[in-house]
Amino acid sequence: MRRAKISIIGAGNVGATTAHWCAAAELGDVVLLDIPATEGMPAGKALDLFQASPIVGFDARITGTNDWAATANSDVVVVTAGIARKPGMSRDDLLSTNAKIVGDVALQVRDTSPQAVVIVVSNPLDAMVQRMFQVTGFPPARVIGQAGILDTARYRAFLALELNVSVEDISAMLLGGHGDTMVPIPSCTSVGGIPVTQLIAPDTLEAIVTRARNGGAEIVSLLKTGSAYYAPAAATTQMVEAVVRDKKRVVPCAAYCDKEYGVGGYFVGVPVVLGSGGVERIIQLKLLPAELAAFDKSIAAVKELVSVMNRLTA
Ligand code: LAC
Repeated sequence: MRRAKISIIGAGNVGATTAHWCAAAELGDVVLLDIPATEGMPAGKALDLFQASPIVGFDARITGTNDWAATANSDVVVVTAGIARKPGMSRDDLLSTNAKIVGDVALQVRDTSPQAVVIVVSNPLDAMVQRMFQVTGFPPARVIGQAGILDTARYRAFLALELNVSVEDISAMLLGGHGDTMVPIPSCTSVGGIPVTQLIAPDTLEAIVTRARNGGAEIVSLLKTGSAYYAPAAATTQMVEAVVRDKKRVVPCAAYCDKEYGVGGYFVGVPVVLGSGGVERIIQLKLLPAELAAFDKSIAAVKELVSVMNRLTA
């Protein structure tokens, strides 16, 4: 069987770490691409990672390049290109720079890998995935944003810490935009199948939600020179795996919602079934009034961000 071809655009921390995990999990052959100004850098990282393969024991070809031709006919394209946050910046502060970068990347993806499932990781996520969709013209099922798995992982990790239980036993779902406006759904959070509300006081749960919501900023303020990459790369790898292995995972992703949740044609975080076709289904939850109000607020923030972007890129 032919191995899947996974191209990762942007060979910075998120891109290189995603390459590492995709290769180690033998999800396919990996192409790591960065802009011409970084000549040699992606090739160096790819060669280094390939040389780890006999030790770790994985079979994957890893190529680093500055040439889009090497990415041709990828099954999955992961887009991490763009600048990252510095302390004091919000994700939205990245909008104008990254809209231009992601727009340029989208033109190349459209022409080199017309059948790919595209996973966008660049920030501000909800706008960048919309930009990718606008410029490629790909079917919406094949354009997906990575955010919900990361936000949910932060929430699950902090819950496991608080309850002193295995992270593996925490199952959760979050909706809405990436980070600041994410909407936790306590009725969809369980610990070994037990509803979380039976195990944790509401104010403690609220404090955990707040920490997860600010999870990216907490790391930016510690690192000082960039933003998180291990957990974002792990989340991205899970999405790549769902696609190349047709896992049909039920995970939160930024997916194109039109009639779904009454969104009207924007990418927002919702539960989806993720398989070889990309977003194969959007799951519509019945929300409580408070959850619905928070979700509407989150959608409004996404729409505002996209309208600013549309003005900037018009
Ligand atoms: C974060 C950035 C990468 O949430 O969006 O860490």
